[in-house]
Amino acid sequence: MTGTSIWRDDAMKRRVAILISGRGSNMAALIAAAKTLDFPAEIAVVISNKADAAGLAKAKDSGVTTEVIDSAPFGKDRAAFEAALQAALDRHDVELICLGGFMRLLTAEFVERWAGKMLNIHPSLLPSFRGLDPHGQALRAGVKVSGATVHFVTPDTDAGPIVMQGAVAVREDDTPETLAERVLKLEHRIYSDALRLVASGGARIDGEVCRTSSTGSPDDALISPAVI
Ligand code: GAR
Repeated sequence: MTGTSIWRDDAMKRRVAILISGRGSNMAALIAAAKTLDFPAEIAVVISNKADAAGLAKAKDSGVTTEVIDSAPFGKDRAAFEAALQAALDRHDVELICLGGFMRLLTAEFVERWAGKMLNIHPSLLPSFRGLDPHGQALRAGVKVSGATVHFVTPDTDAGPIVMQGAVAVREDDTPETLAERVLKLEHRIYSDALRLVASGGARIDGEVCRTSSTGSPDDALISPAVI
C-alpha cells in the first residue's frame, strides 16, 4: 500500500486498546495474536465499561493491563463517560481501538475523533443484519451463507468501511446458537487478521470503502447448500 502512513512511527508496534463489556472471546483472540513476535500491534490496555465483565479476568491472566470505567454512574451523560474513556486512552498512549462486544453506544464526536483508528467486529455479513440478534435475523431471512465483518467504526451502529469478512455455510438445522458458535470461531480468526492488516498499514479508507493490500482468498468460493 502506498501513501503516507497514518501511524506515528512505522517501526513501532501500534498501541491498541480493546474495549469490552462481557465475555471477551474476541479480546482473548487479539491478545493471543499480539503475542506473536512479528505482530504489528501490542495490546496496551483492555478497558471494560462493566466491572463484572468476564473478559477482565482473561486479560489479567494473560498479563494485559486492565481498567474499568463503569458506565452506569454516568447514566445518559455519554460525553462525561467518553471524557473518562479518552483520558484512559491518553494515559496508555493508545493509537488504535478495537471494540470487542463493547455494548455502549458511542457519540458521533468520539467516533469522529477516532475515525480510521477504531475497529469493530459484528457477527453478520454487513451491511446485512446490523444491530441485535444478527443470527436470528439471518435465519429468519433464510440466507444460505452468513459470517462476520470487521469494519472501521462510523457514527452509525454496525456500519463503516469493511476491512475483512469471513463466511460460513448456514445449515438447514441451524439455531441462532449453533450459527453463533461457528461464526464466533471465524470472528477470532478475522479480527486478528484484520488488526494485523490495519496495524501494518495494509488498509486505507477511500470514501465509504476500505481498500486493502491483500486480495481474495485461496478458497474463494463458498457455495451453500451443496447439491450432491
Ligand atoms: C461477538 O460475537 C461480537 O461480534 C458481537 O458481540 C460478541 C462479543 O463476544 N458484537 C456485536 O454484536 C456488535 N454489534 P466476545 O465478548 O466473546 O468477543
